[in-house]
Amino acid sequence: MIPSSSLLRLHETIRSCKSCGLHATRTQAVPGVGPCPADLMIVGEAPGFNEDRQGEPFVGAAGKLLDTLLARIGLSRADVYITNVLKCRPPMNRDPMPNEAEACSPYLSQQLDLIKPKAVLILGRHALERLMPGQGSISRIHGSLIKRGDVAYIPLYHPAAALHNGSLVADLERDFDQVKRYLDQLLAPPPPPVPVAASKQESEQLRLL
Ligand code: URA
Repeated sequence: MIPSSSLLRLHETIRSCKSCGLHATRTQAVPGVGPCPADLMIVGEAPGFNEDRQGEPFVGAAGKLLDTLLARIGLSRADVYITNVLKCRPPMNRDPMPNEAEACSPYLSQQLDLIKPKAVLILGRHALERLMPGQGSISRIHGSLIKRGDVAYIPLYHPAAALHNGSLVADLERDFDQVKRYLDQLLAPPPPPVPVAASKQESEQLRLL
């Protein structure tokens, strides 16, 4: 699906953003990629080396793992909208600073409004802290579903964390299997209406025919 013109405009605004110091060190901003609207949205931390060069989120090693996890549940990148808390790469891939996440946060809010996802996968502690402050640590709540209004938020370990600590891969695989079960429920078509018993007057009319 082609992204809506409002989303394309927002991407353009992000590409020319100078709201924090990261604009000075980026090669380019990385707004996000995917269809609009989309049932599923994925939010990571920040672009890394490859993303900064290519202008697309999750195209490096962590992105390869994300692609594999999506394929495991029958999805591909083309099915989901993918973005990050920060749209510009922090130098040397350091953690996002609070003022940077704050400066970028209106963009993430507008993306959520335009994409209208039914479910959001929150990848890692920085995205969790931005989207659900005070919810607790990712190691405690990964794989759970937290409903906020019409949107289901599902915190998960960041794929890059699993690349550093191989024991987290099994957790991510289990959690993605759980994501599939959540999505099957969230996206299931509503049940057909239960036929109502004919009213007394209708039964009377039918009897007279
Ligand atoms: N890690 C992220 O959080 N986002 C990317 O786009 C790539 C790596």
